Amino acid sequence: MSLRDILKKAGLSDEVINKVEELKIEDVVQMTEEELSKKLSISRKDARKIIDSLMEGRIGFKTALDVMKSPETRISTGVRSIDNILKGGIKIGSITELYGKAGTGKSQFCFQMSVIATDLGKVIYIDTERGFSPSRLSDISTRFEKDPSIVLSKILVFRPDSINGLRASIRSARELARKGEVSLVVVDSLLSIFRSEYVGLEMLAERQRQLSLVLKILREISNMGTTVMFTNHVIGRISESFEDLAAGGYIVGHFPDLVLWIRKGSGSTRILKIVDSSELPEAEAVFVITKGGLEDI
Ligand SMILES: Nc1ncnc2c1ncn2[C@@H]1O[C@H](COP(=O)(O)OP(=O)(O)OP(=O)(O)O)[C@@H](O)[C@H]1O
Ligand SMILES: [Mg+2]
Repeated sequence: MSLRDILKKAGLSDEVINKVEELKIEDVVQMTEEELSKKLSISRKDARKIIDSLMEGRIGFKTALDVMKSPETRISTGVRSIDNILKGGIKIGSITELYGKAGTGKSQFCFQMSVIATDLGKVIYIDTERGFSPSRLSDISTRFEKDPSIVLSKILVFRPDSINGLRASIRSARELARKGEVSLVVVDSLLSIFRSEYVGLEMLAERQRQLSLVLKILREISNMGTTVMFTNHVIGRISESFEDLAAGGYIVGHFPDLVLWIRKGSGSTRILKIVDSSELPEAEAVFVITKGGLEDI
C-alpha cells in the first residue's frame, strides 16, 4: 500500500495528504502530535491519525534502535545464568512479562534492567505500587561501576494511581519513545490498578477492554524499538501441585513476546523460568538477590 493509500484509509483529506507528502516519513514518525499539527497547520486529530497510521503501517519507519545506533540486539540482564537461557539477554524492542509472588524479586529485576538500559538511552519507570527505590538503584549502579547520580538522572519515574493516570503515563512514554530517546519502559505492576478500580465479575469486560487499550500502546512503543517490561502478580492456586498463574486472563497471557516466572528456590535463591517465548525453549536459571541486585549464585 502506498503512503497515500494508507493515509486515505485513515480518513485524511487529499489536502492533508499533500502536505504530509512534502515531509520525510522518518521525520514525521519522530514528531509528537503537537509538533506535526503545528508543522503542517492541521488539527491535532489529523496529526494523531497520521502518526498512528504510519506506525501501524510501519512504512520507512526509523526505530529507536536505529537512532541509538546500537550494535546490540539484546540487553544483558547482568546475570550470566539468566543471559544464558535468554541467548544474551532481553531482546531490544520486545515486550516481556515478569510474574511471580510477592517478594520474589520482580521489582529488583526491573531495577537492574533499568540501570543497565541507561547505557542505551533514557528509561521510563511507571511505578503503580510506590515500590521504586532510588537507594536500590544506587546500590545496583555501584555494583555495575556506574555513577548512581548519572544513572538516576536518566530514569524518569511516573507514579499513576488510577487507570486514567496509567494511560496518560504510557502515552507520555510513547511520545518520548517516538523521539528515539527511550531504551526501556517498565510498568511495575501492570494489573494492580485495574484490579482495584474494576472490582467484581460484572466489571470484567470493561476491565479487559481498558487493559487491551493500554497493551496496544505498549505494543506501539515496542514497535519503535523501545524495550518494554511489565510485572504481574499471580492469582490464587487451585492446589499446591499447580504452578503459579499470572493475573489478567488471556488478554495479557498471549500478548508478551517473552513470559518469565520467578519463584523462590531453596535458601535465598530464586528460580527464573522461561514460560513462553516465540523463539526460546522453556528453561530455568537460578540467581540470588544481594545488595548489588540480581547475581549468579
Ligand atoms: N538490599 C538488599 N539486599 C538483599 N536482598 C534484597 C535487598 N533488597 C531487597 N532484597 C530482596 O528482594 C526481595 C524483594 O523483591 P521485590 O521487591 O523485587 O519483590 P517483588 O517480586 O517486586 O514483590 P511485590 O510483588 O510485592 O512487588 C526481598 O524479599 C529481598 O529478598
Ligand atoms: Mg514489586
